[in-house]
Amino acid sequence: MSSIPNIFWFLPTGGDGRYLGRSKVARPVSNAYLRQIATTAEFLGYDGLLIPTGSGNLDPFLTAATLANVTHKIKLLLALRPSAEGNPVVFARKIATLDEALNGRLILNVVPGAWSEELKAEGVFLSHDERYELADEFIDLWKRLTLGETVTYKGKYFHVENGRSLFSTVSDPHPPLYFGGSSPIAHEFAAKHIDAYLTWGEPPDQVAEKIRDVKAKAKARGREIRFGVRFQVIVRETEEEAVKAAASLISHLDDHLIAQAQEHQRASDSVGQSRITALHGGDRKKLWIAPNLWAGVGLVRGGAGTALVGSPQQIVDRLREYQALGADTFVLSGYPHLEEAARFAELVFPLLGKESFVAEGNVITGGAFDVPITRANRQAATLLKKAA
Ligand SMILES: Cc1cc2nc3c(=O)[nH]c(=O)nc-3n(C[C@H](O)[C@H](O)[C@H](O)COP(=O)(O)O)c2cc1C
Repeated sequence: MSSIPNIFWFLPTGGDGRYLGRSKVARPVSNAYLRQIATTAEFLGYDGLLIPTGSGNLDPFLTAATLANVTHKIKLLLALRPSAEGNPVVFARKIATLDEALNGRLILNVVPGAWSEELKAEGVFLSHDERYELADEFIDLWKRLTLGETVTYKGKYFHVENGRSLFSTVSDPHPPLYFGGSSPIAHEFAAKHIDAYLTWGEPPDQVAEKIRDVKAKAKARGREIRFGVRFQVIVRETEEEAVKAAASLISHLDDHLIAQAQEHQRASDSVGQSRITALHGGDRKKLWIAPNLWAGVGLVRGGAGTALVGSPQQIVDRLREYQALGADTFVLSGYPHLEEAARFAELVFPLLGKESFVAEGNVITGGAFDVPITRANRQAATLLKKAA
């Protein structure tokens, strides 16, 4: 495993802001802002961008399509709910179209879905495990179609006759599949279909346990899987500043809002969500759950509720611990997403040995007298020699 991890950033297609739970200074979601984050993340050297799906998010497919011509290198990790995608034959064409437009930069995050109530509002009346069964059929069919097979199939959820996809994907044999469910059926699903298993940012011992289980189940099927962890990040030049920034992020949350959000989270039938909610139980006094791991975001946000908080070196030390457990990819975010993408790249990429435009820093900033750093270094060396 490479010691330089893949670092993905997150596209906030549900809105953004500097404080959780305070709408006054929040940023409404707009395509112009999302494009700005995407181009910035690419410019900074991030490897990919996670685009989530849900009733509170702009459509991920259309959002990804608008990014095809403004980005060139960064991969797009696109979340999709098989239960909402209709027929796999149509889906195969859609994926081939998008992957071609992205010249093979597409990755899929398969999301069976965390909230039955939310899904019912969109016409999906399946239980947790039925959604996994559907996803299993869906991905099976999609893979066969993408490999060029003509498919006739009648299963519990799909029925197609002589289904074909005339367009193969640029990625060979197909865009990689990522996925992050935590239930027993989810681990079986991962073992059977998935290239990279993602977990929410739980404490290291809990992540280790999941990795062990998924790895063993994959091995039993003769497969190997990669692993990634999804965290919020709050990095500052010192630990003290980072801890202050964490407190500031939730400084506008009142108890009523927290109680409401916790109730919503408890209504989820996702095992992954309940593991994250259980880390703090909605209690502001129980937010530090492991060294540099803070659960404050989860007081109101579903999903990625834990943040790595600390100095650049502390963040790197923590990431290295998860790498030692087998993770090679981290999917990160911070509020506001535009500014924090830059801050993380500036402060942490150099310590990870990660190439970044900022880390290479070929100008000394300051305005009209900017000069390339190499020239400036030479000049400085000459001046020093003269002074000696
Ligand atoms: C990194 C990561 C990203 C996820 N993204 C989404 C998403 O965009 N939309 C969504 O509805 N669920 C998302 N999920 C939820 C899971 O895909 C899964 O549907 C949910 O946890 C229910 O499965 P479980 O009970 O097996 O945990 C995500 C999970 C992880 C770990």
